[in-house]
Amino acid sequence: MAKLVMITGASAGLGEQLAYVFARQKMRLLLLGRNRERLQQVARQATKLTAAPVSILVGDLLDDNGQQAWRQCVAKCGVPDILVNNAALSGFGAVNDLSLAKAQTVLQLNALVPLRLSQLFIQAHQRDERPSYLINIASAGAELALPYAAFHSASKAALLGFARGSQAELQATQINLMTVLPSLMATGHFKQATLPYLKSNRMLVKLMTSIQLAPEKIAKKIVSSSLQGRQILRLPQGYQWVARLNCLAPSLVRKIIDLPYQTR
Ligand SMILES: NC(=O)c1ccc[n+]([C@@H]2O[C@H](COP(=O)([O-])OP(=O)(O)OC[C@H]3O[C@@H](n4cnc5c(N)ncnc54)[C@H](OP(=O)(O)O)[C@@H]3O)[C@@H](O)[C@H]2O)c1
Repeated sequence: MAKLVMITGASAGLGEQLAYVFARQKMRLLLLGRNRERLQQVARQATKLTAAPVSILVGDLLDDNGQQAWRQCVAKCGVPDILVNNAALSGFGAVNDLSLAKAQTVLQLNALVPLRLSQLFIQAHQRDERPSYLINIASAGAELALPYAAFHSASKAALLGFARGSQAELQATQINLMTVLPSLMATGHFKQATLPYLKSNRMLVKLMTSIQLAPEKIAKKIVSSSLQGRQILRLPQGYQWVARLNCLAPSLVRKIIDLPYQTR
């Protein structure tokens, strides 16, 4: 039977593009999100790419850290062979400006929900003899935190910590965990989440706008890398070099990263 893929946050952005890539691989899909209409649109589009079933699950992951979504997935379609923890909030803003409620939501949706779902996935596949794939979408900000994104970076760093902390346990299983660290993607958040914090310089804004990654390309790379058993995926290629330089000269990299942003 075709592999079952569960994708959280599949109604837009990267999650939507991941749905299309998995559909092209003829896998069964379960797409999660709160917006029923958008999910139905994505499901209709994905159905055109595959003969395998495409289902949707409408719900808010914040209600119970995704546990109900997991139970519903298992009851409706079975235990997923591939889980993509993609749903997240940007949660950008100065530390002083972010309310406790917003900070809590960011930490819950971006860290607690994917980690609880990861735990359920690992428990379900612990003794399997065939491979399964857990894909956690973090962010480059998990290791190279951006200014005005402290809570966001903290939430994404939790996924990296989980990957490192579970590595020894997972070695004894057939579970492949890949943590993805993409830099800025063109999913429509730039104007609201990044632009207000940049220095007002037209060239700089143009440069930052142009470096946004296409989610279609990122989705393809994520799927192929995961199925090859990769553990950490940094995107784009250039960021891999920045991450290496960061190990050698962290203060220099910090200065470069902070450069385009306003200082308050
Ligand atoms: N965009 C970037 O520049 C960037 C950079 C690095 C990493 N990332 C990471 O990449 C992933 C995808 O980012 P994106 O920009 O594609 O995100 P996006 O366009 O904002 O989409 C987020 C998805 O999450 C769902 N979602 C949000 N809150 C939810 C909730 N409470 N319960 C269930 N679903 C919920 C949304 O669907 P509904 O509204 O239908 O619920 C939507 O499908 C995220 O993990 C993000 O942190 C993004």
